[in-house]
Amino acid sequence: MRSHYCGQLTDTHISDEVSLCGWVHRRRDHGGVIFLDVRDHTGIIQVVFDPDTAESFALADQVRNEFVLNIKGRVRARDAAAINPKMATGTIEVLGKELDILNAAQTPPFQLDEYSEAGDDIRLKYRYIDLRRPEMQQRIRLRSAATHFIRSYLETREFVDIETPILTKATPEGARDYLVPSRMYPGSFFALPQSPQIFKQLLMVSGFDRYYQVARCFRDEDLRADRQPEFTQIDIETSFMNEQDIMSLTEDMLRQLFMTLIDVDLGEIPVLTYAEAMKSYGSDRPDLRFDLPLTDVADLMQSVEFKVFSEPANDPGSRVVALKLGEGDRLSRKNIDDYTRFVGIYGARGLAYIRVNDVAAGVAGLQSPILKFLPDEVVLSILERVDARDKDIIFFGADKANVVNDSMGALRCKLAEDLDLYERPWAGCWVVDFPMFEPTANGGWTAIHHPFTHPLGTVDEIEADPGAALSKAYDIVINGNEVGGGSIRIHKSELQRAIFRVLKLSDNEAQMKFGFLLDALGFGAPPHGGIALGLDRLIMILAGSDAIRDVIAFPKTQTSQCLLTAAPAEVDAEQLHDLGIAIRKKV
Ligand code: AMO
Ligand code: AMP
Repeated sequence: MRSHYCGQLTDTHISDEVSLCGWVHRRRDHGGVIFLDVRDHTGIIQVVFDPDTAESFALADQVRNEFVLNIKGRVRARDAAAINPKMATGTIEVLGKELDILNAAQTPPFQLDEYSEAGDDIRLKYRYIDLRRPEMQQRIRLRSAATHFIRSYLETREFVDIETPILTKATPEGARDYLVPSRMYPGSFFALPQSPQIFKQLLMVSGFDRYYQVARCFRDEDLRADRQPEFTQIDIETSFMNEQDIMSLTEDMLRQLFMTLIDVDLGEIPVLTYAEAMKSYGSDRPDLRFDLPLTDVADLMQSVEFKVFSEPANDPGSRVVALKLGEGDRLSRKNIDDYTRFVGIYGARGLAYIRVNDVAAGVAGLQSPILKFLPDEVVLSILERVDARDKDIIFFGADKANVVNDSMGALRCKLAEDLDLYERPWAGCWVVDFPMFEPTANGGWTAIHHPFTHPLGTVDEIEADPGAALSKAYDIVINGNEVGGGSIRIHKSELQRAIFRVLKLSDNEAQMKFGFLLDALGFGAPPHGGIALGLDRLIMILAGSDAIRDVIAFPKTQTSQCLLTAAPAEVDAEQLHDLGIAIRKKV
C-alpha cells in the first residue's frame, strides 16, 4: 500500500509518484483547494487536493481529523511563499491524485497538537491516541532502542537471557506482594515477583554463570513519579565476579548506552560510601550536578542555650547541619518562608538561617533571627567552617538524623532546581557500603537491600551489632535518580541462616519461606552477585522526562489503576466461587 513514509519525503523526491498511508493531522480549506496534513510516525507531509481531480477532491472534503487514509500523488516543490521552515517537510508537498478513506474516526477527545491542555486522566483513558503524538512515539521507540542496545551488549559478552516465573512465591524486596489466588488449591496464592532475585541466584547454582533478563517486576507500594506497580528491570547476575567487576561492567554498558542513544558522555562516575553520601548530601541517591553540601555543625552547638540546636547536638541519633547558598541575597523573606514550609513536608520543624551581609564585619555584618541565641564565637566558627562570603545565606537543620537528611537533602535539590544551580547536565555516582540492616518500628531489624546481600564482617560481629553491619551492596545513581542496585550475594547456607536469625526469622520459618534457596546454597553454590537496573527510570532520564509514566506504553495512574481497561475490576460471583473466595464488604 505504501511507497514512502510521510516524514521521509525530501526535495530529492520531487516529481516522484508516491503512495502514503497515515492519519489526518489537520485539514484546511483554502478557497477551492483542500490541504491535508497527513501524519505517520515519521512526521507530517502536506497534501493538496484541487478540484481538477473531482472525485478525490470530494472525498478530501469529507475527511476529518484522525481519519485513516491512503493517498497517491506526486511530490512537488512548494512556491517560495508557501515554504514552512517549521516543518521538516516544509519545502515540499504532495499533489494528491487518488484518495482512499481506509477508516473514519470520531472526533478525538483531545487535539494531538494541543496535548498539554488535556489532563493526564483523559490521556491515559485514550492512551492509544496519546501514543500517536510524536513525543510519545519517540519515547517508546527510544525504549525499544535501549533494550535492543542492552540485549546486544550483554549477548556479545556471553550473557544468557533466561525467563523466570511470574506465578511464583514472594520475593522480599520490601514492598507488598501482588497475589494471585490458586483455583486448584483454594486458600493458596501465588505471588507475582517483586524481582527475579531468588531465581537468578538459583541459575548461578545451575552454572549459567552470566544471566540477564528484561524482567517485569510487580510491587504493591505507594506510587510516585518514579515508581509504577509493574515496571521493568534489566536484571543481571554473574558468578565468580566481585563488586568491582560487576560495577565496571554496568558502568561501561551505561556509558555506551548514553553515548549511543543520546550522544552524552556520562563523565567520571565517582564512588561514594553510603556514610559519605548521607553526611554531605542527606541522601543515598545524591544529585551531583551541583555542589551545595551539608556541613555538620553539631560539635559547635553542644553548649549553646538555643535548645532547638543544643538538644540534637547532644543526641547521637540527631544532626545539626548548615547549608550555605552563595548569592543568598536573591532570596526574599517570602522565598525563605516558602522553603521553611517546604522542609516542613519532610518533618522539619523550622528552617533557621543567617544572612551574611559583610563577612569582614564579623557578627555585626550578619542578619538572622537566631543570632541572639548563639554566642559570637560559635557564630564565627560556623562562618569559618562553611567558608562564608558576602551575600551568602546559611540555612540550618536540626533534628533526628533522618528528618535532617530528608529535609535538608530535599532543600538542596529544590534550591538547585529553583535557582538553576546545575554546574553540569549529567552526574552519576555509585553509592557503596550500605548498612546491612535498618531498625524496624517494633525494635527488630529489616534488610536494607534484601536478605541475600553479602555482609561485610563476620557472623559474630553482625549478630553482636546488626546496626553497625555494612554490606557488599551498590547502587548507581544518575542525576539524583537511583537507576540500579545490586550486591554480592550470600552463597553459603550457614551465613544465610545467620542473617535470617538477625531478621528474627526462626529456622522453621526460614525453611518454610526460603528452604529451597537454603537447600540450593548447600549444593555447591558459586560465589555470585549482580545488579538490576530500573529500565523505566533509565529511559525516563534518556528521554529527558520527569515521570516514568511517560516512557511506559500503558502505565497505571498514581492510584494504581489502568484507566484504559478500567482495571482492577470486580469479577463474576462464579469465578470467585471457583477460587473459594468470598468478598467481605468494606464497612
Ligand atoms: P531494587 O529493589 O533496588 O533491587 O530494584 C532495582 C531497580 O529497579 C528500579 N525500581 C523501580 N522502578 C520503577 N518502579 C518501581 N516501583 C521500582 N522499584 C524499583 C529502581 C531500582 O534501582 N533484586 C534486586 C536487584 C539485585 O540485587 O540484583 C532489586 O530488585 O531503579
Ligand atoms: P523558634 O525559636 O521556634 O521561633 O525558631 C527560631 C528559628 O529557628 C526559626 O527561624 C525557625 O524556623 C528555626 N527552627 C526551629 N526549629 C528548627 C529546627 N528543628 N531546625 C532548624 N531550624 C529550626
